[in-house]
Amino acid sequence: MKHFDTVILGAGAAGMFCAGSVLRADPAHRVLVIDHARAPGEKIRISGGGRSNFTNLATERGRFLSDNPRFCASALAGYRPGDFVALVDAAGIAWHEKTLGQLFCDGSARQLVDMLLHRMRQAELWLETAIGGVTQQGDAFRIETARGPVLAKNCVVATGGKSIPKMGATGFGYDLARQFGLRLVEPRAGLVPLTFAEQDLDLCRPLAGLSVEAEVSHGSGKRATRFRDGLLFTHRGLSGPAILQISSFWRPGEEISVDLAPSLDLAADLREQRGKAGRMALNTALARLLPARLAEAIIAELRLDGTRLADQPNAVLDRLAHRVHRWQLRPVGSEGWRTAEVTVGGVDCRDLEAKHMQARAVSGLYFIGEVVDVTGWLGGYNFQWAWASGHAAAMGI
Ligand code: FDA
Repeated sequence: MKHFDTVILGAGAAGMFCAGSVLRADPAHRVLVIDHARAPGEKIRISGGGRSNFTNLATERGRFLSDNPRFCASALAGYRPGDFVALVDAAGIAWHEKTLGQLFCDGSARQLVDMLLHRMRQAELWLETAIGGVTQQGDAFRIETARGPVLAKNCVVATGGKSIPKMGATGFGYDLARQFGLRLVEPRAGLVPLTFAEQDLDLCRPLAGLSVEAEVSHGSGKRATRFRDGLLFTHRGLSGPAILQISSFWRPGEEISVDLAPSLDLAADLREQRGKAGRMALNTALARLLPARLAEAIIAELRLDGTRLADQPNAVLDRLAHRVHRWQLRPVGSEGWRTAEVTVGGVDCRDLEAKHMQARAVSGLYFIGEVVDVTGWLGGYNFQWAWASGHAAAMGI
């Protein structure tokens, strides 16, 4: 049987990064990384449209969802976006800031995978290797694999969440957590398009493919969460960054509110136009303020086709503005694991210690990355969590 100091389950962002950090601290440490996929870091490779949004300069704990919102702070403070940028620079990988602190590679995200592989080059990497059970044997872990059993002092679970099963995602980490007595926050799909009932699709379907700047909100009062970003109409509902962001907060049965023209005061703008050009058709006036397809669809829905601006009393203009600024929707669901970028929920942070991500009750067992109940907003935060939590575990090993 082969013996290692540390076995890492999962060669994704968190697992590879953790392996590299362990070896940087102690090059003699015997590390094995196991993955059932054919290639390591597949999600890195396809992320950000192939250029990977690998971190966000605005990283702070408020950009993460968790039942224990303070938990992630320690790991995030121990490894900051600038630390990862320094690695990327040292590897000669060119990058740029897109918007809102989001950093992307100028070229292919494969460069990042190569950098991470180089950083962990002293580790053994077993790909296309199924993992069977993990049990405790004395003060070590025995891991059954398709290449035979291995023994290790430390076992790091970095098998990610359930999103995109086609790319190798499984609930393995959750099962393992349960087996060792850790609690779970029910995993659900996050950063995912939302789907709607027939009556709401009447508007969405004809507009499929249209993208607008929108403000999408969830909840009310002080607890409301809002995102202003792109919104995309689809045949089954809504997508685009603003919707993906809100999807992580939304739960079945709840409503969301959409402002389809957040930088306008539509009622005031239409009144002003009525004063200046009352003979203008209402749909023409609206199409000056909104994308023409959207203006037409809303006018048709409110049965205001063929009317002139001058014929509309304030009440009608207010109704129209309300329809645009305060579209209330109750999604029937989401596109699910098939397209979700992340999993919200996971291993309950109450059962992990925040400094090194070690299970409180099982010495030597660590959980890092997306398998943990820490989920970032869209925009590079999830990779930063993978790097930071991987680094935190490595410092504890
Ligand atoms: P990750 O999923 O990366 O790795 C888990 C590994 O474990 C995989 O290699 C898998 O094969 C392996 N595994 C799972 N089950 C196993 C089993 N039973 N046996 C053996 N191996 C097993 N984030 C971001 O910050 N910026 C971005 O631009 C994007 N873009 C993006 C695009 C798309 C399409 C997706 C799906 C996701 C993103 N993300 C993102 C999210 C980001 O990819 C994700 O949060 C991290 O990859 C999580 O890293 P982990 O290492 O925890 O899991």
